[in-house]
Amino acid sequence: MNSKVYAQFEVQPGGKLRGMLRVPGDKSISHRALMLGAIAAGDTDITGFLEGGDTLATLAAFQAMGVQIDRAGGHVTVRGAGLHGLKPPPGALDLGNSGTSMRLLAGLLAGQAFDTTLIGDESLSRRPMRRVVEPLTRMGARIDTTPGGTAPLRIHGGRRLAGIEYAMPVASAQVKSCLLLAGLYAAGATTIIEPAPSRDHTERMLGTFGAAIDTDGARVSLRGGQRLRATSIAVPGDISSAAFLMVGAAIAPGSDLTLQNVGVNPTRTGIIDILKAMGADLQLLNERQAGAEPVADIRVRGGTLRGIRIDGRLVPLAIDEFPVVFIAAVAASGETVLTGAEELRVKESDRIAVMVEGLRRLGVRAEPAADGVRISGGGEGAVFSGGEIDSRGDHRVAMAFAIAALRASAPIKILDCTNVATSFPGFVECARAAGLAIVGKP
Ligand code: S3P
Repeated sequence: MNSKVYAQFEVQPGGKLRGMLRVPGDKSISHRALMLGAIAAGDTDITGFLEGGDTLATLAAFQAMGVQIDRAGGHVTVRGAGLHGLKPPPGALDLGNSGTSMRLLAGLLAGQAFDTTLIGDESLSRRPMRRVVEPLTRMGARIDTTPGGTAPLRIHGGRRLAGIEYAMPVASAQVKSCLLLAGLYAAGATTIIEPAPSRDHTERMLGTFGAAIDTDGARVSLRGGQRLRATSIAVPGDISSAAFLMVGAAIAPGSDLTLQNVGVNPTRTGIIDILKAMGADLQLLNERQAGAEPVADIRVRGGTLRGIRIDGRLVPLAIDEFPVVFIAAVAASGETVLTGAEELRVKESDRIAVMVEGLRRLGVRAEPAADGVRISGGGEGAVFSGGEIDSRGDHRVAMAFAIAALRASAPIKILDCTNVATSFPGFVECARAAGLAIVGKP
């Protein structure tokens, strides 16, 4: 990764976003390409790989388990070890800030012959892990957590797993993917029933690696013991990273921005539906397939937005985009109401609390609820005052408040920004190229 890591952002008010750009590769797809490539037979070629802290943590974990992985920028070759070819790592696997790494690896490692310990940073060490440990235990795994159900996770090897039928209590692609990966090592079939659709990259990619996977409405099912065949994966741009610039263009008058080659898998496009419902001028151009994933160029022009009630069904389809959706809500006329989004409280930070705290510092009226928020939009002109925001180490909170500056009356300074590099390395340079008056400070 050559892009710089900054501790603070300073953003001058106003401006507009224009031009054509690409955002870094999709984080979810990059993780899965490494994981499936590592346990496939043969060499898997990945292009467009996200060189972010989270995906590099997954990459290092597999290297520690004996998988040879060559990387030249976003081009990665994984020399697959086969389903049973991973080796005991020399120490604990440190997954940094990455919930996806920890939850998916918990499933993949529950069926190995050796023990592993998964650790993470302060934020990851607070996040709930019972949601994966409990169903994995039902499959026959043995995993120790802290008394609070958090990491470190001590995963005992040499367990015999058996497939289960499991109705997930929360719509979580991380839980679903964890159980599908464990299911590859289990006797019989593993069936998961989702309460609402969540991102389906694992299901699509298992198909690309030659596994048979059945989906029938909310049920997804896979037989254990299936061998994966190496393949090529072209990772599209991450719509969750594009979202910051999409909202920026939508709220800044005079903007006309095209984001090229963005993944538009329908389980990820809640942000497009939300922005369109708010009245944004947004078009998908050049829609095409990149392997099993749909991609498009997304053009957004500046205009006026109106507040909306966000349909609860959109929550899992836009789960990572709410920090910046809150910024769009402030720049809209009228009120925006979000409900059914209690999951936001257990992300990299408590995103309801941290966003409301930051919005209030910038003079916005925002009322938190246990499962959402109510935001009063400011309408035209500058809708945020300037000020200093503590992102609490949450990458998406930091980027959301940087975008707010487009409609602020004075500079916005954002603290604790180093984790932006976990998902969007080069954010400062990319946003500046589009027209945001942002500088990063070490
Ligand atoms: C992810 C799923 C989401 C999302 C996370 C990445 C994935 O989490 O918030 O950034 O790659 O599966 P949940 O599935 O737990 O909501």
